[in-house]
Amino acid sequence: MKTYDFDEIIDRAGTGSVKYDLRKELFGTDDVIPMWVADMDFRTPDFLVDAINKRMEDPIFGYTLREDAFYESVKAWMKKRHDWNIEKEWVTFSPGVVSALSMAILAMTKPGDNIVVQPPVYNPFYFVVEDNDRTLVRNPLILEDGRYRMDLDHLKSVINENTRMVIISNPHNPGGTVWTEAELGQLGKICVENDLLLLSDEIHSDLVARKFRHTPTASISEEIAQHTITCVAPSKTFNAAGLSTSAVIIPNTELMAKYKRTLNAVHVGFGNIFGNPALVAAYEHGEEWLEQLLDYIGKNISHAIGFIEKKIPQITAMEPEASYLLWLDCRKLGLSQEALCDFMVREARLGLNDGTMFGKEGTGFMRMNLACPLSVLKKALANLEAAVNKLQA
Ligand SMILES: Cc1ncc(COP(=O)(O)O)c(C=O)c1O
Repeated sequence: MKTYDFDEIIDRAGTGSVKYDLRKELFGTDDVIPMWVADMDFRTPDFLVDAINKRMEDPIFGYTLREDAFYESVKAWMKKRHDWNIEKEWVTFSPGVVSALSMAILAMTKPGDNIVVQPPVYNPFYFVVEDNDRTLVRNPLILEDGRYRMDLDHLKSVINENTRMVIISNPHNPGGTVWTEAELGQLGKICVENDLLLLSDEIHSDLVARKFRHTPTASISEEIAQHTITCVAPSKTFNAAGLSTSAVIIPNTELMAKYKRTLNAVHVGFGNIFGNPALVAAYEHGEEWLEQLLDYIGKNISHAIGFIEKKIPQITAMEPEASYLLWLDCRKLGLSQEALCDFMVREARLGLNDGTMFGKEGTGFMRMNLACPLSVLKKALANLEAAVNKLQA
């Protein structure tokens, strides 16, 4: 068995990396440890790079059909990682998950229709609704005992004759919540009863912590499956977002036809010739690497939570049940949001996400990306501890 090295420090500055090379623009300085956008500082695994190298051996990069293996490997991965039986005919393509959300909105709703999101949530959910001239309806999550839960009574109260769709992050970004089968079942029931489409963004689903289990929303019942569009990708799991290759799973044939019509209309259905074999390689050979990654991320999460509890009690870290994003409740520091962001950059030298990016419900919060070597994480936490101590001195 090969052992992968997640401790390796890789200098990504100057490579065009969004995470590193946008620091000056976003934070006003390059002198911050970048712990914001959700990509990992770990090497993209060798089996994925090998698949791309193999494709390069055929030096004609013309229009290329997506091989059957693409659909088969998505199907096999859903079965082996999530115990979800899907048909390969349910699988289609999108360059990215956000573009899939946008295409689904264009395909299945009309301008002015109401679309529900659950803040605080991954901010492009707002853009895909509002920039497509649909009406955003907020159904805020409730933070209770260190975990988010859905407010389904409130959801029922905001549904009216203009409501067409609900978009969820399953698991949730930024809270890291792994929605339970019961929660998703209740949500799905409301969607079925009101004939709403459920757009389930499951991009973080492979990164569920050992103690938890991901439930694909559409796996709960046939009725829910018929109302659900699921977006998945190897991009977060295998650190390959730059390959722009994702999969969309739509069991309902009518909805599938609508989605494909829009995919054709925007003419992005071919994807790129390197992304397709990379997805196949990831889903065919990725399990061992993923297990080792989950161990590493799990240790980083435990370290960060333990350190913050002990050394920075003024900040509360929500334990992520999935993924590598730590939602930090900084309200006890007593700073305005502007001062909090400024403090993280100038005093702690950290490039984090401002919690309000995810909605006003994120006021007083910051999001920290833990997918980095432990040595980098230790340095970041030491910076934060020193800065908080200085603030309170
Ligand atoms: C919930 C969620 N959806 C989608 C994305 C991005 O997807 P893509 O880059 O494939 O558009 C992210 C990235 O952080 C995310 O957290």
